[in-house]
Amino acid sequence: MFPDSATTPMALGGLPVGPNVTGVLSLDDVCLEGRTVLLRVDVNSPLNPETMEFMDDRRFTEFLSTLEDLSLSKVVLISHQSRPGYLDFTSTEPHSVLLSELIGRPVGFVSDVCGEAAISAIKGMEDGDVLFLDNVRKHEEEIRMKRASPEEMATSEIVRNLSSVIDAYVTDAFATSHRSSPSLTGFAGEVPCIAGRLMKKEINALRTAVFDPPRPYVVILGGIKCDDSLRVAQNLIDNGSVDRIAMVGVVGNLMLWADGVDIGATNREFVKDSLGDSFEETWEMAGDIISNHHSLLFLPTDLAVESPSGRRVAMPVSDLPTELPIYDIGIQTMRDLRPLIMEAGCLLWNGPASYFEKSEFAHGTIEIMNMFVEAPGVTIVGGGHTSALFNQRGKAGGVHHNSTGGGAVLCMLSGERMPVFEALESSREKFAPLLPALGLSPRES
Ligand code: 3PG
Repeated sequence: MFPDSATTPMALGGLPVGPNVTGVLSLDDVCLEGRTVLLRVDVNSPLNPETMEFMDDRRFTEFLSTLEDLSLSKVVLISHQSRPGYLDFTSTEPHSVLLSELIGRPVGFVSDVCGEAAISAIKGMEDGDVLFLDNVRKHEEEIRMKRASPEEMATSEIVRNLSSVIDAYVTDAFATSHRSSPSLTGFAGEVPCIAGRLMKKEINALRTAVFDPPRPYVVILGGIKCDDSLRVAQNLIDNGSVDRIAMVGVVGNLMLWADGVDIGATNREFVKDSLGDSFEETWEMAGDIISNHHSLLFLPTDLAVESPSGRRVAMPVSDLPTELPIYDIGIQTMRDLRPLIMEAGCLLWNGPASYFEKSEFAHGTIEIMNMFVEAPGVTIVGGGHTSALFNQRGKAGGVHHNSTGGGAVLCMLSGERMPVFEALESSREKFAPLLPALGLSPRES
């Protein structure tokens, strides 16, 4: 299915390791029965903007094999949901309810991250119990310390308090492995940090696409996280590993604007607001890519905007500016994308082409999804919203790899540093020799 890379070693967190991710501890290396385990997951999920209901449960179902492996431990789950200030920045209580429904047994919830309530709830756990802590980004350290050194993170409340009541840390948060924060990388020097089943599965599936992807290699970037997308585009261009980059969705709007198209004040403001502090830096990257690598880019030639009465109105890019919000790519753009997708040896797609939660504007994203399923090349899909769509429409089996990661996939495939991989590697270096003394070595079978 994938190009054969089984024998190619990869740099995981900067260190060369063998094909089976031997540079990190896995659940096969450690016996966690009867132990208290902090399990960092990424169940940051798309929520319906009107009802706040989960639109997809895949980030839950994908870590269940790890939970199954830990069924004789006390499992303390920790995750983020969205970012402070966003509409879907919620408590993780609904996440604990959904998980309980999925596994058919109780999952506790404590409305605290690492304070007294959390610590006393953890101390009260029995083997086999599962407890969800609150959204870790409710603790200000989680975002503030994103650039802190491992030593500084070790002094955070999150790491100090939780380390005092756990025996080991397991991570299945592949989708956030491109980030650094106390809950993601801070435990490396405190307790043995172990890659969960999902983490291993993702790395093993994606590494095949890292090495020598069949050409032409076409990447489609959409969605709203323009800063991540452009950094990745720049990396892919710099290391010469991509043949075409199609930019759609809000990323496409930004690039049209950087290319000198007046997209209108409403759309400019939307792009700027969504980038916040990262706007200047991202704008500079956009200008650089436009000036130096225009021939690699595919940008929309037509769009769809929403009329004041909520209707879809088609509009060629040459008719811009508009004061109406741009919510989709147009029919001609979809047609022009087709040969690019059908002739690609390897295709990577991250981020929707449209505001697809509004059915009038779902066409562009659905059309790309259909083309992906038809495409003969190796197909990889990432991004919460994009991969949720494949699941909802029953098309997840139509691609080679439907990742739980979005930005993480892009970063990994473009050769960026992956702080969580690095933390796993450094924890293994420190703790692998200490496992017998800690009583965590697996029993001889
Ligand atoms: C994602 O959905 O890409 C991850 O959960 C990371 O989220 P973030 O971009 O807010 O760090």
